[in-house]
Amino acid sequence: MKSVVILGTGGTIAGTGHDPDRSWQYRAAQLSVSQLVDAVPELKGVPLEALQVAQIDSKDMSWAVWRALGQALQTQLAREDVAGVVITHGTDTLEETAYLLHRLVGGRKPVVLTAAMRPATAPDADGPANLRDAVRVVQEAARRGLGGVVAVLHGRIWAGSQVRKAHSSALDAFDGGGRLPLAVLDETGAWREAITPWPVSGKAGCLPLSAEPPRVEIIHSHADADGWMVQAVLAHARQHGPLKGLVLAGTGHGTLHQGLEAAVTQAVAQGVTVWRSSRVARGGVSSREGDVLAACGELTPSQARVALMLYLLGV
Ligand code: SIN
Repeated sequence: MKSVVILGTGGTIAGTGHDPDRSWQYRAAQLSVSQLVDAVPELKGVPLEALQVAQIDSKDMSWAVWRALGQALQTQLAREDVAGVVITHGTDTLEETAYLLHRLVGGRKPVVLTAAMRPATAPDADGPANLRDAVRVVQEAARRGLGGVVAVLHGRIWAGSQVRKAHSSALDAFDGGGRLPLAVLDETGAWREAITPWPVSGKAGCLPLSAEPPRVEIIHSHADADGWMVQAVLAHARQHGPLKGLVLAGTGHGTLHQGLEAAVTQAVAQGVTVWRSSRVARGGVSSREGDVLAACGELTPSQARVALMLYLLGV
């Protein structure tokens, strides 16, 4: 039987606190990925390997950690004796990592991200069940010959290109931005029938992560958004290095305050690539005839930032 490799990056799933009655008071990224595996009785006897790639609160995610993760993934997925990979991650930037890997990692082996909303020391810790489910999904997807990047959280499988955090505290914190999960798991982690077709991930490989990341920032449109932020980043860039891209989190269907729009025109004239997303949770921004600024589809602003970085890297 082939192994499942579990790559640990930290997060609340590896978090600990001192008072079980105050489970919101804890520090993320305290337990090793081996300790997480040891805490799941159902994983005893399953051929697993646990490797620590990073140990961070995912709010501090960086290109450097993505690079290390990409290198580890490439090494592990190339092994004949490995069925697929689970990545334990924080919930806060999971949607960015999932989207990035969706774009880069192809092939016939599954890559499953998982996380937890409660630390390992909480009475209602959700990490052990999520980790068990993630391992089972790797095994089952590998058996069915399904590769690609997905996220397994709270009994559902989400496409890596669609998953996003939609609640800041609930155990059931993720959704697909209006898209259905790929499948629902039962209480033992077994896979019920698929709801939607399995996604096809990208095939670029993780090599682009070895490049220096182009600087791309996100700016929101809101009441009084008069373009001050755009002027500020352009001024900063003149002193500290080039700004390559801007993602705008627009109102509604990606509309912009007129003040912001005027400032963005200057940014474009200075060679900055500007894309429009929406600050609205579902629906995204579709391309329409006559668009001056490219639309980001259903990506969240932070996923759109990843997409624009890849675009600027030629991926
Ligand atoms: C993190 O994202 O690392 C902390 C929060 C979480 O995992 O829920």
